[in-house]
Amino acid sequence: MDDPYAPARDALAGDGLAGGAADSDPALLAARLDEDDPLASFADRYRVPDGVLYMDGNSLGPASDAALASLDRVVDEWRDRLIAGWTDADPPWFEVGERLGDALAPLVGADPEEVVIGNSITVNIHTLVGTFLDELLAGNGPEREGFEAADGTWAPGGDPDTDPAVLVNELDFPSDHYAVRAQLRQRGIDPDEKLRVVESRDGRTIDPRDIEAALAAHDDVGLVFMPTALYRSGQLFDVARIAEAAHETGAYAGFDAAHTAGAVPHEFGDAGVDFAVWCTYKYLNAGPGSIGALFVAERHHGLTPALAGWWGHEKATQFEMKMAYTPADSAGAWQIGTPPLLAAAPLEGSVELLREAGIERLREKSLALTDFLIALVDDRLPDVSVGTPREHAARGGHVALEHPDAERLSAALSDRGVIVDFRPPNVVRVCPAAPYTSFADVLAVVDEIESILESGVHEEYAKNAGGVT
Ligand SMILES: Cc1ncc(COP(=O)(O)O)c(C=O)c1O
Repeated sequence: MDDPYAPARDALAGDGLAGGAADSDPALLAARLDEDDPLASFADRYRVPDGVLYMDGNSLGPASDAALASLDRVVDEWRDRLIAGWTDADPPWFEVGERLGDALAPLVGADPEEVVIGNSITVNIHTLVGTFLDELLAGNGPEREGFEAADGTWAPGGDPDTDPAVLVNELDFPSDHYAVRAQLRQRGIDPDEKLRVVESRDGRTIDPRDIEAALAAHDDVGLVFMPTALYRSGQLFDVARIAEAAHETGAYAGFDAAHTAGAVPHEFGDAGVDFAVWCTYKYLNAGPGSIGALFVAERHHGLTPALAGWWGHEKATQFEMKMAYTPADSAGAWQIGTPPLLAAAPLEGSVELLREAGIERLREKSLALTDFLIALVDDRLPDVSVGTPREHAARGGHVALEHPDAERLSAALSDRGVIVDFRPPNVVRVCPAAPYTSFADVLAVVDEIESILESGVHEEYAKNAGGVT
């Protein structure tokens, strides 16, 4: 079949639900889509509890049989082999960072040595933003014209005329700003001056033209650090376009891919991305607090990481325990300390499963699921608006449903086994993740929202009862 998911797209275009076509009955349409779904059988390999409609995989992905098996294997190795596991386990723990980096690389369009697992997103932002600020301050940044610092006169010490700025946006995940500000501060650069923040026009999205305009307006931007998708509205960014605009003005381009890695295919290599960070506990389904991951383009290998540690040392000589630090000539250099094996082990199984499904097919199904969801919301929920862009090219893996009583709605949904999350002030994020969600599940979620809003049962919940779920 050419495109098994076409009926979902047609439904959003108005041909299926409201448009009066043969499949205007959503239950029939969902059944047909599920029957033709080439990924349908993958759901059996995830452990979503019976009676739960899990729509929160953009916060914490569920366990899979494969992830639990790779975790069990490492636990057994720890029990049976003790310290020898570092070298004698199969495969040895020592190379876990590089090995799982290799497994992740195809999902982000990178060469194996450009990806490694290690640390957490926030720590990886610290070390990578720090590294690239150091490069700018050493006069080694991308070629640029006009700004005085082009010839290497950027120097630490708080001279606003020559200090490099970092361009971010106001809808970023807060931790990213905390880390970038700290890295500026640590180089004597005033973040209030040099953290340049692109504003949103609508409170939901960032217009890419505003990123370009900020670059044109400020010739001091040395690093553009943007998300691949916004955590609240789910807007997907055009990574290649941003990287190109950054490079044209002599800035590096780094990305936080937390909300796309494992859900949206990337081409970091072809797009010219300098570095990227992401987590593995969302769409990569490796478990709560699982290890982070990062990409550093090959052309930057050999730089000295801002946060250096022995695990980023050249592997062949790491155990010579020399005081002189020789960074690995790969993204592996940005590892810091001993990798948390038990927080990395599930990733092996969970990534295998995603690779078996195929990232391109997962993306196609994800778009179909969110097409179907948006079509149902348009058709059935007059008091709910969709805060996520409708164009596929600007839509990540979840849909932001906006309702004035979003917090109480999300609490009521949770009591009915529909796990979503609330993001202040008015957003319920619904994530029908492709590996384990059916079209019938999406319909059931909308049925629940409709019945809650029509009955008003959510009004029985105390305001601010649940907090952020
Ligand atoms: C977009 C984004 N960036 C950064 C973070 C922080 O990640 P960590 O707690 O792993 O450092 C999160 C956490 O959910 C996130 O969603």
